[in-house]
Amino acid sequence: MILAIESTCDETGAAVVAAKKGGVEILSNEVASSAEIHVKYGGVVPEVAAREQIRTIIPVVKEAMEKAGVSKEEIEAIAVAYGPGLIGSLLIGVESAKALALAWDKPLIAVNHMAAHVMANWIKGERNEVPARPAVGLVVSGGHTDIILLKSLEKWEWIGGTRDDAAGECLDKCARVLGLPYPGGPEIEKAAEGASGDLGYRLPRPLIHEDNLEMSFSGLKEAVVREVTQKKELEDWERQALCKELLEALTEVLVEKTMMAVDKWQPKSVLLAGGVAASKRLRERLGQRCEEAGVRLFMPEFRYCTDNAAMVGAAAVLRPIKKNALEVRPEPSLEVV
Ligand code: KG4
Ligand code: ZN
Repeated sequence: MILAIESTCDETGAAVVAAKKGGVEILSNEVASSAEIHVKYGGVVPEVAAREQIRTIIPVVKEAMEKAGVSKEEIEAIAVAYGPGLIGSLLIGVESAKALALAWDKPLIAVNHMAAHVMANWIKGERNEVPARPAVGLVVSGGHTDIILLKSLEKWEWIGGTRDDAAGECLDKCARVLGLPYPGGPEIEKAAEGASGDLGYRLPRPLIHEDNLEMSFSGLKEAVVREVTQKKELEDWERQALCKELLEALTEVLVEKTMMAVDKWQPKSVLLAGGVAASKRLRERLGQRCEEAGVRLFMPEFRYCTDNAAMVGAAAVLRPIKKNALEVRPEPSLEVV
């Protein structure tokens, strides 16, 4: 059994996980978020997030251990996400994990947060199956948008991604100019679902027809900002229609580029991962296209899409990259591969 800790952004998570038939079973998964505090600033304020995490980390770990019904003797290792993320937040998770590993005399497993998002697809749920390799992974979060090729559990290759903004960042920034709260993704989704009218024009789908796996979302964001500033006052139906078109444009680019990768690499499965993987529209569109292409699509359950410690545990079980506990340091700019 592994105790996993996640504190890369505004969430503080702890989970107890165990290996199970090629995948991972979750015994507990606790999360405390400071998102509500950030609503009034329209985004995460790093210092505020870190101060909250200092307060919540120990209670969250304790809660995860109690819910799983395990004692520290039964824990075989401590896992922690050491990057990418906010330095203050990372320090709290990493130093807490180091302290526990030393006090309890357990090995420490340092986990890449983005790789953990991908490994959420190995969490055992209703579908008692794990992804076959090679696999193409679309990793979409607030800070990253990458397409990767998983040749095996260990061998990953970066094959494409965004040149500028991440997809989640685009949604969060657009939400802000649209007067919607943080985090923007779920708010834009909600507004889009309520849309009845049509804008009468289309937003750009940057680089969609280019025959490569490059993406760009800053132009799409700028187009939304331009619309909003030109209009001055947006009516409700206009805001909803704009949200729908934005989500549509972003989804089309993500799906098109993933399918290009599928065409090129002929994988046995496709993996969706990261906070934006919680988007119903993206899940639906990618689901349709993968079915047409005859390739298995894996998507984590909603609760394992946005930041959580269960996925950190999953990565620790399946890709245990051992490090000397005292030498683990936060790496704010770590890449997925
Ligand atoms: O992975 P994550 O929780 O944190 C990072 O590692 O960045 O991803 C957060 C991102 C945010 O940009 C948020 O707006 C987006 O995921 N997100 C969504 C949805 N839920 C969260 N985007 C679209 N639809 C959602 N339902
Ligand atoms: Zn994340």
